[in-house]
Amino acid sequence: MDKFVIRGGNPLVGTIRVSGAKNSALPCMAAAILTEDEITLENIPQVRDIETERRLLASMGAQVDLGTGSNQHRTTISCRTLSDPVAKYEIVKTMRASSLVLGPLVARAGMARVAMPGGCAIGGRPIDLHIKGLEKMGATIVQEHGYLEARASRLKGAHLAFDKITVTGTEDLLMAAVLADGETVMENCAREPEVSDLAALLIAMGAKIEGAGTSTIRVQGVTSLHGANYRIHPDRIEAGTFLIAGAITRGDLTVADCNTEHLRAVISKLEEAGVRIDVLAPDVVRVRPGERLLAADISTEEYPGFPTDMQAQYMALATQAEGVSLIKENIFENRFMHVQELVRMGANIKVDGRSATVRGPANLSAAAVMCSDLRASASLVLAALVADGESILDRVYHMDRGYERFEAKLQGVGAEIQRMGNVFAPKEKDAVAD
Ligand code: EPZ
Repeated sequence: MDKFVIRGGNPLVGTIRVSGAKNSALPCMAAAILTEDEITLENIPQVRDIETERRLLASMGAQVDLGTGSNQHRTTISCRTLSDPVAKYEIVKTMRASSLVLGPLVARAGMARVAMPGGCAIGGRPIDLHIKGLEKMGATIVQEHGYLEARASRLKGAHLAFDKITVTGTEDLLMAAVLADGETVMENCAREPEVSDLAALLIAMGAKIEGAGTSTIRVQGVTSLHGANYRIHPDRIEAGTFLIAGAITRGDLTVADCNTEHLRAVISKLEEAGVRIDVLAPDVVRVRPGERLLAADISTEEYPGFPTDMQAQYMALATQAEGVSLIKENIFENRFMHVQELVRMGANIKVDGRSATVRGPANLSAAAVMCSDLRASASLVLAALVADGESILDRVYHMDRGYERFEAKLQGVGAEIQRMGNVFAPKEKDAVAD
């Protein structure tokens, strides 16, 4: 099982480049199910979840080529034949985003058999809102033996209103609606940039969509969609993680190939904490230390609020800030798995339900720690970059799910980080979804 060995103390200096957004690539790859033509996606990150999605689509009969060499960030997908529209449990259990094939399969093939994703490290992760929307569009759904079986000769346009804002729920039902008969109006949609990324691809494929990126999306169903080429947006969470890496090590780090529009909440919070941020171009932002690093509260919200996927990384920074930072996690019920590991490194953090109180600054000392989920792992890396001594991070396969060449990128700006054990290889048998 791979480990990271990190010696803390080096300020990160230089330019670090952001890869494509994993959480855009996953729905966009699933969108290929909606057409018999070939889809080409550029700026796909080389991370394990993409490999998992490739396996999932291939298991259903799709032809999926993930590029290599200079084309390594390109994938071409052809779902001309979908011989087996089933998302099997052994794949779904490693990546809950597999449920994104549900809507497109019903829309394209009239049926889908998808293993229920089950819970994961950060919460129960139900998909009841996906199911409710598909039933409202005329699908009949049976749940048995841990699988969902959905059928519809042709989905009908409907007026959907999400009880809760759900990112993949919005994406799943958007993909169902584009081939439905008639108009679908979706209220209380997720406004995340990844939803807009998916909508832009669908429109390039011939879909008729208005309002993506706002709370209300209107879709006029069409009878078929054609192929398209599309470039995925930069990963805003990877970019935010690098901004905090620059801040916590008091370096001078330029984050390039990002989209600063998608980082507003993170940038304004870092400025509130006294970090110096300069937006040098729409895709370039520079982070340097200010006079002092100050405590600042966060409350995770759906986009455009402070992202839950940045909560763990921000907590690592808060351990170094002067004063008390209150961190409220409003999206997931169990997203404090990183707290105990940070405490073992010397952080002063108290958890009460969905709130954590961080008192700083604390001198962190290197330790052997355990990664539990994707963003908790990133938090432990950030803490280790500033801890005194050499930390060992176990189970870094969690990192490999969503961060491309993480250790190489950090080495490139001065971090002392090495990977021990096998070179990155999908370890599905160990993996758990999150
Ligand atoms: C997406 O997960 C992201 N994953 C997550 O990123 C991210 O943390 C999350 O959105 C919130 O921003 C992908 O896009 C692949 P939700 P998703 O449905 O769609 C409840 C990462 O680190 N809910 O927006 O699964 C749910 O329990 C990952 O990259 C229902 O109750 O999250 C949660 O409390 C982790 N019923 C809330 O809604 C449903 O049917 C938001 O979940 C669906 C969701």
